[in-house]
Amino acid sequence: MRVLFVCLGNICRSPTAEGVLRHKLREAGLADVVEVASAGTGDWHVGNPPDKRSQAAAKLRGYDLSTQRAQQVSRADFASYDLILAMDNSNLRNLKALQPSTGRAELDLFLRRYAGLLDEVPDPYYDGDQGFEQVLDLIEAACDQLLIEVKGRL
Ligand code: 4NP
Repeated sequence: MRVLFVCLGNICRSPTAEGVLRHKLREAGLADVVEVASAGTGDWHVGNPPDKRSQAAAKLRGYDLSTQRAQQVSRADFASYDLILAMDNSNLRNLKALQPSTGRAELDLFLRRYAGLLDEVPDPYYDGDQGFEQVLDLIEAACDQLLIEVKGRL
């Protein structure tokens, strides 16, 4: 199973989700079952590591995002991923505009699918540290639900 998380810049929310899910998969012994990646709808940060604030907040909870590099989502991704998970409604709209009429990937809003509380992971880029903590809280809760779905598919 291949999962792609998508946000706007691929330096805050989706790389955090990638790092959190990869960590949880490893802990659950499912690292070989699910392949995880992330991408942005925009190309401004392609090749860059995650935002320093995202890396710092993640590191405090035991997630290492330092080796990840930003990339832009492409139409081809709809053929190679099973699940593409958007961080907010704007990301979802942009992905729908890019989505080919046929393709393997199921497209959904990450939190709507798994957490059922908020729909969107709020963009923390222009916020203070609290925004990055909230991103982690939401992503951790939704990743726990995603793991339950993965185990149900085994
Ligand atoms: P992300 O946050 O979509 O969670 O990676 C952002 C990062 C950069 C920008 C916007 C959002 N930006 O405008 O450069």
